[in-house]
Amino acid sequence: MRKKVTIVGAGNVGATTAHWLAAQELADVVLVDIVEGIPQGKALDLLQSLQVEGCDVNVTGSNDYGPTADSDIVVITAGFPRKPGMSRDDLVRANAEIVGAATREAVKHSPHCILIVVTNPLDAMCEVARRVSGFPRERLLGMAGVLDSARFCTFVAMELGVSVSNVQAFVLGGHGDQMVPLPRYTTVAGIPITELMDKATIDRLVERTAKGGAEIVNLLKAGSAYYAPGRSIIEMVEAILKDKHKIMPCAAYLQGEYGIKGLFIGVPCQLGEKGLEKVIEINLSAEEKAALDKSAQAVEELVKTLP
Ligand SMILES: NC(=O)c1ccc[n+]([C@@H]2O[C@H](COP(=O)([O-])OP(=O)(O)OC[C@H]3O[C@@H](n4cnc5c(N)ncnc54)[C@H](O)[C@@H]3O)[C@@H](O)[C@H]2O)c1
Repeated sequence: MRKKVTIVGAGNVGATTAHWLAAQELADVVLVDIVEGIPQGKALDLLQSLQVEGCDVNVTGSNDYGPTADSDIVVITAGFPRKPGMSRDDLVRANAEIVGAATREAVKHSPHCILIVVTNPLDAMCEVARRVSGFPRERLLGMAGVLDSARFCTFVAMELGVSVSNVQAFVLGGHGDQMVPLPRYTTVAGIPITELMDKATIDRLVERTAKGGAEIVNLLKAGSAYYAPGRSIIEMVEAILKDKHKIMPCAAYLQGEYGIKGLFIGVPCQLGEKGLEKVIEINLSAEEKAALDKSAQAVEELVKTLP
């Protein structure tokens, strides 16, 4: 039997994720949205594209959660994106309500699913989903680190004129302006970038990465990024569906790792069929640890504002 993945929110990120998922024949897909006709129309369009592609998976669109029953994974992308001049944190009130409602319905129909939260502000929305679902941390993760790392890798590859597939990077911390790209753990064909670029160049790329979402929001003027976010969600979904034991940065509920307790923060996570298998603790320099603590503090402040 094929696996089933529900995507709540059939907007830019949700529909793009559905596209990647279906085109890779990873699972049957159910798209849910509150706007009548949108999930149904996008699902039908996508299904017809799969005939040309030669992919045999089902894509269903719905305004209720009935068709989502017994999903293996539920991805929550429902909610408002940023507009130019807004920070992710400005979305907290409106999106907390939406993520709360979506989580409640989703877990009622799929009590054993793994939840992946995408809606911003990411780390606070993960906390909303945790409170509503009561899920253990193994089955509740947030997507941001794969995207932030992809942005950093892309900028490094552009700067050096090398293949993107040569570059590996880790971005830790909350998904906000305080995120923590780690140049020491960023390599090009195994060579640390600190050997290949001067500090000023690295600092410039780190800064561009931290503001990577806003750069796209300012260019698009209406809406925020969705191709790279959609593909990053697939990276997590695939690792879980295929039980890959793959390590990637995800927002996980920390229970003392990195000296942080009771908060969702982006850290290296090993993902497999049960969801989060392990939080990997890496050695951080005093400067990196201070940056991670600052990022965690920003998440904590935001979580305090949750209704
Ligand atoms: N974590 C990340 O790295 C990351 C990356 C990109 C976007 N995002 C966030 O993802 C969210 C979605 O972005 P987008 O560009 O797809 O926005 P969008 O406006 O294109 O789509 C959002 C969709 O959610 C739907 N929706 C609203 N309330 C709902 C509800 N209660 N139930 C079901 N559906 C509901 C809307 O009708 C809309 O179709 C935003 O909060 C954005 O900031 C996060």
